[in-house]
Amino acid sequence: MKIAVCGKGGVGKTTISGLLCRALGSKGIPVLAIDGDPNPNLALTLGVDPKASMPKALTSKLLEVYEKEDGKKYAKLKVPLSEVMDTYGIKTNDNVTLIAVGQPEHAATGCMCGIHTTVREIIHTALEESEQVTLLDLEASLEQMKRGTSKYVDVLLCVVEPYYRSMEAVARFQRLGKELEIKSIVAVANKVKNPEDEEAIRQFCAQTDLPVIAVIPYDATIAEADKSGSLNMDEIDHSSALKAINALAEDLMGSVKA
Ligand SMILES: Nc1ncnc2c1ncn2[C@@H]1O[C@H](COP(=O)(O)OP(=O)(O)O)[C@@H](O)[C@H]1O
Ligand SMILES: [Mg+2]
Repeated sequence: MKIAVCGKGGVGKTTISGLLCRALGSKGIPVLAIDGDPNPNLALTLGVDPKASMPKALTSKLLEVYEKEDGKKYAKLKVPLSEVMDTYGIKTNDNVTLIAVGQPEHAATGCMCGIHTTVREIIHTALEESEQVTLLDLEASLEQMKRGTSKYVDVLLCVVEPYYRSMEAVARFQRLGKELEIKSIVAVANKVKNPEDEEAIRQFCAQTDLPVIAVIPYDATIAEADKSGSLNMDEIDHSSALKAINALAEDLMGSVKA
């Protein structure tokens, strides 16, 4: 199963991505987590100690350039994904391997393509070649999903907060997701403080036929634990948000088995 997580900046994509990966990984399911954000911080929500190790950002030296019939130059990974995971990945205690796409520098590939293309090609190959459950934490745009990447994505999780601009952004992601022919596009409500919040999100999503598959409460424990840098599971053990994310992980796995 390949999952991509999108939504406006600050809605909780990275928090949900990290905790979902940990929920799946701790059930014994190996997970590949891809941090697509140019300012990567998925490592922290995965509980990686920043003092011990942080993932190395991939470099464009890993790409080889080839030309297609259209005469344009494209790039793809020239080493197997397993090698990239071994060299650039960080393995966490929860069965998760993290690779960070970051902002690869343009060294000597001869590729005239822009930074977005490079990031896209790396993500594309990772999704195409990965045989594990793979989760992609996107930056706040679907730019990285273009050029074929989306055909490997089974579920697009659109994270939404109960305020208008976040909901409007989700409607935009949903439209783009449809254009990209992603099979399953669903909403995850986050930072929900009361029934009115939930109702606002449900109403908005109903208008655009976007199923809401999880409602994650606002939980100060998460925000507090986040401040220390790396999200420590002991600190959020009883968190209501964590409970909802664990239930979401169960649902996602259930829908694959069904
Ligand atoms: N359910 C929640 N309850 C409380 N705070 C949350 C929740 N989800 C995320 N946060 C907080 O919101 C902030 C932004 O989250 P983050 O995951 O970095 O968003 P994004 O990746 O979408 O930019 C962080 O400080 C995080 O701790
Ligand atoms: Mg993020």
